[in-house]
Amino acid sequence: MSMTRTRPPAAATSPTDTSLFDPAGADSGRFDTLAVRGGEPKSYGYHAATMPMVCTATYTFDSSQAIHDHFQGKVERGEYGRYGNPTVRVAEQKLSALEGAQETALFGSGMAAIATFLLEYLKPGDHVVMTSDCYRRTRQFIRTTLAKYGITHSFVPPGDYDALSDAVQPETRLIVSEAPTNPYLRVVDVARLAEIRRKHRRVKLLVDATLATPYNFRPLEHGADLVVHSCTKYLGGHNDLLAGSISGARDLISAMHDARGVFGGILDPHAGYLLIRGIKTFSVRMKHHNQSALRIAEFLEGHPAVERVFYPGLASHPDHEVARKQFHGFGGIVSFLVRGDLERTIRFIDACQIPSVGPSMGGVETLIEQPALISFYELTTEQRQALGIANNLVRLSVGLESTDDLVADLDQALRATS
Ligand SMILES: Cc1ncc(COP(=O)(O)O)c(C=O)c1O
Repeated sequence: MSMTRTRPPAAATSPTDTSLFDPAGADSGRFDTLAVRGGEPKSYGYHAATMPMVCTATYTFDSSQAIHDHFQGKVERGEYGRYGNPTVRVAEQKLSALEGAQETALFGSGMAAIATFLLEYLKPGDHVVMTSDCYRRTRQFIRTTLAKYGITHSFVPPGDYDALSDAVQPETRLIVSEAPTNPYLRVVDVARLAEIRRKHRRVKLLVDATLATPYNFRPLEHGADLVVHSCTKYLGGHNDLLAGSISGARDLISAMHDARGVFGGILDPHAGYLLIRGIKTFSVRMKHHNQSALRIAEFLEGHPAVERVFYPGLASHPDHEVARKQFHGFGGIVSFLVRGDLERTIRFIDACQIPSVGPSMGGVETLIEQPALISFYELTTEQRQALGIANNLVRLSVGLESTDDLVADLDQALRATS
């Protein structure tokens, strides 16, 4: 068997036995077990109860014959840190188990995963179709970086399946979508996207499911070819690491392992260790995020100082029916419009006692942000409006504090600044 040079090293013990946690059989009932045990080897060496952090930049060989055996594919082992790491490998296996994927490649951030995939998979002359409200750095990468290499794109409004179907050209190689989008939490019916994709043999469907997480939605089960996560968010779950993953069929992801070895965007072992640790409690955390965010969304919707709430779990959300059909839970992000202008919204945010003000999401600490100030600071009100970002828009990433405490805090802040 010929080996690629960049094949990731095996986890601590080899061969890895994950048969108890057959990813293909993953369902929400088994998810708690999958999060704790999925993708892990039977033992880690040193009689350790958890996967150790293997901090090494290089791997040594006992003899020249060992080098020969490595390149002949007779043993699965490490060669150099840019090509893989045993701790990172276990994190990849865990993610594959959660997603029901054959393979996963981990990167140093969500953007490193997305950028590496797009650069590796596409070539000059190719075309990408993307829903217009995808993560703005992904859009930026497609619009500016890929354009430099002669790769064209079309943006289509979320939920307009005819426009999406019409946008697919003979040169189209990729459809990119998110589940759900941010900050308005639009929910695209991924099975419908997969139907469109199936009519075009050369097209792949990639879904960034960072906000849904595999607890609430596994796009591969709905016909997507690839699923991407910013593991920085719910999978890590503690606002203390940056990581990104891409999962899918073995041949596609093997190419990502190879590309990672060249582009260099590997995850470091410490972040890999933190990610494994975060995933162990992921299922428990997601239950709380889902329940708490729904209650907070309902509370905000009934509040006189709130103009509108965007949460797919509410019947008032334009994609509520798709979300109900597609998702196991509605996630931890609630967006809403405070009744008032930019200044009033600033006063409300500053009056909140529990949430920390900051970008990002998915951690145990509740985070609150006003997109007009944080993500779109440099734009004028008119430019923000053109992008659909209202000055009075607030995004809340509901953490694991008591729901009652959060409701009381939001209430006092809304009242104090009405
Ligand atoms: C939906 C989505 N995808 C990708 C990313 C990029 O991830 P990272 O910040 O880990 O590079 C983000 C970051 O906010 C995101 O929200």
